[in-house]
Amino acid sequence: MNRRQFIQSTLAISAMFGGASFADANPKKDNKMTHILLNDGIKIPQLGYGTWNIRGKDGQAAIENALQVGFRHIDTAAYYQNEDIVGAAVQNSGIKRSDIFITTKLMWGINTDRKGTIKEFSGSLKRLRMDYVDLYLIHAPYGNIPEIWQAMIELKNKGLIRSIGVSNFGIDLVKQLCQTEIKPSLNQIELHPFHQQKQMQSELKKLGVAVESYSPFSQGSSRVLHNEVLQKIGKKYGKTAAQVILRWQIQKDIITIPKTQTKSRMIENFNIFDFALSDGDIQEIEKLSS
Ligand SMILES: NC(=O)c1ccc[n+]([C@@H]2O[C@H](COP(=O)([O-])OP(=O)(O)OC[C@H]3O[C@@H](n4cnc5c(N)ncnc54)[C@H](OP(=O)(O)O)[C@@H]3O)[C@@H](O)[C@H]2O)c1
Repeated sequence: MNRRQFIQSTLAISAMFGGASFADANPKKDNKMTHILLNDGIKIPQLGYGTWNIRGKDGQAAIENALQVGFRHIDTAAYYQNEDIVGAAVQNSGIKRSDIFITTKLMWGINTDRKGTIKEFSGSLKRLRMDYVDLYLIHAPYGNIPEIWQAMIELKNKGLIRSIGVSNFGIDLVKQLCQTEIKPSLNQIELHPFHQQKQMQSELKKLGVAVESYSPFSQGSSRVLHNEVLQKIGKKYGKTAAQVILRWQIQKDIITIPKTQTKSRMIENFNIFDFALSDGDIQEIEKLSS
């Protein structure tokens, strides 16, 4: 067993997270962040802050609030046109860059060869005002994937990216990239109680590629957030359906990146490390979709 295989075999770990030292939101003292150890040895906070549709001054204030609440993992993308405010919020926070995990993604549809990828990445770094990113993802499986991947490997080898992965990839394409010098560390996919992607989850697990859930609330759908099963489970623990969803993902070793621009919801979404769902609860949630 080589080093990478060894790391994959111990994919999920829990780790203490200091965080929240300047939090004014007062997350519960025992509310400890968990982490996933990716197949390249990089540790990612399991709960991150999604930033789709977060823009402008209010958007920057929202990201600063998320950092104040205790989030230390931010998900952005060139496509979201908000890398600049993510960078500004991180700078304003006064938190050490190395204490925050930043993901951004390659814009799709343009510059999708090797040179173009390097150029696009350099644009992201400039907008973020950073000299490295923690995770760089191919946002969607378009363009010359082998060349894009090769460029990402080069950028990783230069120390400009700590971990490389994909998003919205089907399993066959993930398998192809797993044959290259560096496997994708994760696949960021839509995943929520009504779209659990069980087959994809199990295939990725076999490959040692972590699962990251986007749209964990199906973009705030009331069908999900007002679901009776989730609300009933939440009641037992004094938690909301949103917290039950995030906790279920945490216990399934899934990385999750809910988005909210509302501070009270940031606090709610962050307060999920002080309770545990039972096996029975998880079975009930898993009956909600195939
Ligand atoms: N890779 C990709 O192709 C891809 C695609 C989509 C998303 N993403 C990433 O995943 C992140 C999350 O997904 P998403 O933004 O699509 O949707 P989401 O996180 O499932 O839902 C966001 C919506 O839920 C509401 N909300 C958040 N917390 C809540 C709570 N505790 N109670 C009630 N409502 C709550 C938010 O409202 P307010 O903001 O009004 O509070 C917002 O309307 C994105 O921001 C982005 O970073 C990636």
